[in-house]
Amino acid sequence: MVVVGSANADLVVTVARRPSAGETVLGDDVTTIPGGKGANQAVAAGRLGASVALLGAVGADQYGELLRESLRSANVDTGLLRTADRPTGNAFITLTPDGENTIVVSPGANASVLPADVAAASSEVAAAKVVVLSLEIPLETVRHAVEAASSAGVRVLLNLSPVASLDEETLGRLDPLVVNEHEAAWLLTARDSAQEDSAQDSAQEDSAQDSAQEDSAQDSAQEDSAREVSAQDSADAARYVEIARRLRALGPRSVVVTLGAKGAVTSDENGTTVIAAPEVRAVDSTGAGDAFAGALAVGLAADRPLADAAAFAARVAATAVTRVGAQPSYPTSNEVIS
Ligand code: RIB
Ligand code: NA
Repeated sequence: MVVVGSANADLVVTVARRPSAGETVLGDDVTTIPGGKGANQAVAAGRLGASVALLGAVGADQYGELLRESLRSANVDTGLLRTADRPTGNAFITLTPDGENTIVVSPGANASVLPADVAAASSEVAAAKVVVLSLEIPLETVRHAVEAASSAGVRVLLNLSPVASLDEETLGRLDPLVVNEHEAAWLLTARDSAQEDSAQDSAQEDSAQDSAQEDSAQDSAQEDSAREVSAQDSADAARYVEIARRLRALGPRSVVVTLGAKGAVTSDENGTTVIAAPEVRAVDSTGAGDAFAGALAVGLAADRPLADAAAFAARVAATAVTRVGAQPSYPTSNEVIS
């Protein structure tokens, strides 16, 4: 597979609580950890044994070396990773004891990844089974890569993170669109407030409703045979099914909504499936979404059905949150918890 995306050196500081505006708090020693959404996805896939290349850019500095070393150690091909004229991207991360984080990204070299870089790699892109994207590189480059891959018949997985609006044509080429709950809400709100919607949508929704009904019938049958669920669980499941259904109505060929500790929901032409994640003690959720996306791509590249690939990805992401950092926390196949 080919990942087109960012590479960052993550500067991580653990704090008891985050400062508010104008406030100073003291934290622990800074750790420097290889990260960046693109490099994270590539390392996650590489560590699971997939054949993967990262198309992107780092600076001619120590952080660039740190990234190259991490990619190499996960068997990621760096032949498409350019050394740019700008510093390696950085992410400034505060981590709190509950495993939650906040992140500020300074893109640096990632901002220099341009459509021309994708064009120069067109044969590698066309030869891939899956192309994986996220949004820490210029949106124009992402659009170009989506178009290049999908017109070559290559499956495109896009993680809409950090969130941005995509044109309809790009959205329509995604298989799947991967979002978390916040990104999903953002997309659906942006859509609700769009003017052109109303007339067209109500027609679409009518026909989508039929398949949603089939979906939820399927879902409840699955749940019955699997386990007894509490009323709250099934209310949540119904809500997730609805979110996935509405996202699919925006145009992508398939959708995966990641739900953190609660798992994920997938929706494609085979229906909508709610997937549970194994229970773990979260230490650091940084890059868990990237581990999920990388592992999902591994499953899809092996022709596994979307729901199966997502169940595998949920286990990989759950494993990653039990350890500190992004890339160093990603498991090999043997280490994935069940
Ligand atoms: O998704 C996690 C990643 O986001 C971190 O590794 C950091 O680099 C930011 O890009
Ligand atoms: Na982690």
